[in-house]
Amino acid sequence: MSSSTSASPPSLSGRLEGKVALITGGASGIGESIARLFIKEGSKICIIDTEDSSIGKTLCADLGGDAHAQYIHGDVTIERDVQQAVDLTVAKFGGLDVMVNNAGISGPNITDIREYNMTDFNKVFDVNVNGVFLGIKHAARIMIPRRKGSIISIASVASKVGGLGSHGYAGSKHAVVGLTKNVAAEMGQHGVRVNCVSPYAIPTKLLFDYRPDLLNSSTEVLEDYKTALIKFTETCANLKGVSLSSKDVAQAVLFLACDESKYVSGLNLTVDGGFTSVNHTLQHFIPSHN
Ligand SMILES: NC(=O)c1ccc[n+]([C@@H]2O[C@H](COP(=O)([O-])OP(=O)(O)OC[C@H]3O[C@@H](n4cnc5c(N)ncnc54)[C@H](O)[C@@H]3O)[C@@H](O)[C@H]2O)c1
Repeated sequence: MSSSTSASPPSLSGRLEGKVALITGGASGIGESIARLFIKEGSKICIIDTEDSSIGKTLCADLGGDAHAQYIHGDVTIERDVQQAVDLTVAKFGGLDVMVNNAGISGPNITDIREYNMTDFNKVFDVNVNGVFLGIKHAARIMIPRRKGSIISIASVASKVGGLGSHGYAGSKHAVVGLTKNVAAEMGQHGVRVNCVSPYAIPTKLLFDYRPDLLNSSTEVLEDYKTALIKFTETCANLKGVSLSSKDVAQAVLFLACDESKYVSGLNLTVDGGFTSVNHTLQHFIPSHN
């Protein structure tokens, strides 16, 4: 989805000059946008993702090659993989200033709790909560002794209101906010900031978890599904005349990563055009409701 009416964000390059970041799930969607923006702003980055290494390597080559970006094939639910990714980042680029816990899955679209099995529920929590926990834990190992760092996790509007996703997804995203606040409470004394970002809907690969049957369909069918999703989310959105893209989420993450947010910690920053601040049923300001 492209920002139809919004101007490009101001080009303030260098906001991450000299910094090193590790981004989980950076091979596609929101994570890829974060990776691209971080590189533009002067950061060195590593990406850990379960995607095929060839996809990650092509992306890193596009981001400026070995001197700027490194792809690590790994799974955020496996502690050894996260530990190695953090250590490799430090060994390659000399530190870890920013940890972005972005990897996430939506899990199946089951709308009847009686049919929601524990395997599916646990899988969503494993990636969305345990993966975030491991990212924070191993980033802390590097950041605490250095008395600096910024940890940012991607939650969702489903962390703020019910009814936007499956029980597994909504529960996991609420947990990301709880974890963020609790770790922010611990890490304040060490000078490390801990925040999360909660975007509204963007038609990335993740939303195909709801329609796995479509994944092997023709481009036309996939595009139709994407268009229908965009139309639906725009109808439900609060802020009209502008669309949300993964680049907008990356801008929010950039703010929390750089020193402009040096006194911001424990925040769940929504990038939702006011969606979670508004009661959509009793909307006093919609003329048809008056
Ligand atoms: N797309 C949306 O509408 C939306 C809205 C709110 C929040 N989010 C959140 O944003 C984050 C990014 O999602 P996205 O929309 O870009 O989806 P996406 O599917 O495009 O990207 C997710 C990335 O995470 C990777 N990944 C998945 N499981 C992993 C694991 N176990 N280990 C390592 N990497 C793994 C995937 O390979 C993929 O590259 C997620 O946490 C998601 O919950 C998305």
